[in-house]
Amino acid sequence: DSGPQTLVFERNSNPVPASEREALLQNPGFGRVFTDHMATIRYSEGRGWYDGKIEARKPFNLDPATLVLHYAQEIFEGMKAYRLPDGGATLFRPDANARRFRNSATRLAMAPLPEELFVESVRALVKVDRDWIPTADGAALYLRPFMIATESLLGVKPSADYLYCVIASSVGAYFKGGASAVTIWLSENYTRAAPGGTGEAKCGGNYAASLSAQAEATREGCDQVVFLDAVERRFVEELGGMNVFFVFDDGSLQTPPLTGTILPGITRDSLIILARELGLTVREEPYAIDQWQADAASGRLREAFACGTAAVVTPIGKLKGSKHSFTIGDGGAGPVTTRLKSALLDIQNGRAPDQHGWLDRL
Ligand code: COI
Repeated sequence: DSGPQTLVFERNSNPVPASEREALLQNPGFGRVFTDHMATIRYSEGRGWYDGKIEARKPFNLDPATLVLHYAQEIFEGMKAYRLPDGGATLFRPDANARRFRNSATRLAMAPLPEELFVESVRALVKVDRDWIPTADGAALYLRPFMIATESLLGVKPSADYLYCVIASSVGAYFKGGASAVTIWLSENYTRAAPGGTGEAKCGGNYAASLSAQAEATREGCDQVVFLDAVERRFVEELGGMNVFFVFDDGSLQTPPLTGTILPGITRDSLIILARELGLTVREEPYAIDQWQADAASGRLREAFACGTAAVVTPIGKLKGSKHSFTIGDGGAGPVTTRLKSALLDIQNGRAPDQHGWLDRL
């Protein structure tokens, strides 16, 4: 299925007035401010991909028996468009998101969207809504490609029809505390993903499964939850919606390996590459929670940070749990965390050379 070569453009006849948009862009928060358009492409068995459009953002009309509403056959992506110093705009590694989206589709038994169509749809939407890219430092246009099962049926089987859509949201920092260090809650009652499950797919169900644990974290005054592996309940996996890195006193870094239960973050991958370029050793190895506590106490562990498209690089200052409680380093942003964050943001915002060809200029 090569799908439609070009998306039909139907301009929103009632866009948000420029003055209102500028006001919204001043302090957008995360995921509340939406642009004027969306991209949609339909799929049906036998016909393939069809009816690709850029159109006004509007509600879907869904039959109550639509499969996604019952069995959660849904996947999504998260990526950002950034402003460049010359006023242009760029995406960051959209090919990597396209590949992961296809892998997620395969795991959820959904039709895999051709990668060129994924990138074309995101590029087209950003071009149309480029005035919604905020200019403030750390702000960006967050893109949310997703796909839902749209066949009307109560039988449990892969849908014959799908709707792929991309919406865009002008965003600032993900955490309410902005760029400052977060406190995380160790989930002991819940796990996120088991071997053979959907942990490495980016499906809505994984995030639904994290919400009770996240609610517990919020009740305990924490910003995010951290999950342990589902088998031994011993090794650190990831946070509710982002990967995790540790920085040691010898300057080395460690992050949990991609064993199938962890989301393969594109920010995670980029930071491993950037850290090695800076001459730092990076290990992809399991890290036990008791070791984390011991290393934080002894000072062997100097820094920890969360990373993801939404979270960018966010220092972890403290961990709390029913049997654990400790501060990492001085509880603030450490030098390695700060350096890696700048290295990444400098590339994404066109302030540093794009040695890896990660930028896709619009
Ligand atoms: C992202 O970082 O893009 C995600 O999808 C995670 C979510 C917490 C917003």
